Amino acid sequence: MAITGIFSIKYATDDLEGGVRFHELLGLRLVRSSSDSADFELPDGSMVLLCGLASPELPPAFGEAASGVREVCWAIDSEESLSNVARGIATDREVVWCGATECSFIDDAGLAVRLRVVSLRSLEAVPDPVNAPGRVERLNQLRRWYDRAVPQQMQHVVFCAPQPRVAARFYVERLGFSISDIQEEGGVFLRAPGNVQHHNLYWQRAEGPAFRHVSYGVANVDEIMAGASFMARHGFTSRLGLGRHRISSTFFYYLPNPCGGDAEYSTDSDCLDEQWQPRVWGRAFGHIWWLAEVRSHEPELRMRKANADDLMLA
Ligand SMILES: [Fe+2]
Repeated sequence: MAITGIFSIKYATDDLEGGVRFHELLGLRLVRSSSDSADFELPDGSMVLLCGLASPELPPAFGEAASGVREVCWAIDSEESLSNVARGIATDREVVWCGATECSFIDDAGLAVRLRVVSLRSLEAVPDPVNAPGRVERLNQLRRWYDRAVPQQMQHVVFCAPQPRVAARFYVERLGFSISDIQEEGGVFLRAPGNVQHHNLYWQRAEGPAFRHVSYGVANVDEIMAGASFMARHGFTSRLGLGRHRISSTFFYYLPNPCGGDAEYSTDSDCLDEQWQPRVWGRAFGHIWWLAEVRSHEPELRMRKANADDLMLA
């Protein structure tokens, strides 16, 4: 089985017009719209789908909030993989088929999940030369200027659950995801079997189920801040501002989304394969390495290799 990444996320929103404006400003391309829906496509072929609250297309709400992401559709590599996964899922819950290449079901946390046989387009990036003491990569050449951000792919989604280890176990045992890292009292970072991003899915501990955010990958920190400036000039600002996570090394910039949760510009995440050994991180230590707005204290260093008990997710 090989789930290769996020193909689409489906939002319920009570502000379709505001949602369309936000996502266009964010840098996504609107490809379809109607009175109760709007579809955006990213360069890797993945989709962000906005649906009005009355849309019959919507799965049940995840948690108390009516708005927010209600379904994640994962790309899977073949009909054979899909039928193998679906056979296992159908042993203890309903699987609804849509033709031979797509099916949906509800995961152990109550979130609607869809699998679709589709290939995400591969992306090519030309490196931006970077100068540093002792290294000249850019001579008689200006740094590339970005006017705004244009996200290339969805790198991860984050949801809350009261029992994140239980929520994560479904993806490990039933969908072939790997544990990348664990945050003490926090949650579990998971990556899809055919993907090398540090995580494609994070289950975070909270009192109730909720959608938290989606990460949009851009080229570098210049593009993040060009996007941040462009969004601020149009009325959208971040609470935390620019920062870098310690777990995953990702640069982040979160923007509250009128359709629910946050949209995150992100770049330079760690990439992992099966050689990686998961770690267990202290919650505060792992969460943030640095923020542009300096914090008053530095969290205590807490990080160790995960042991067999950690990885059981029991
Ligand atoms: Fe994130």
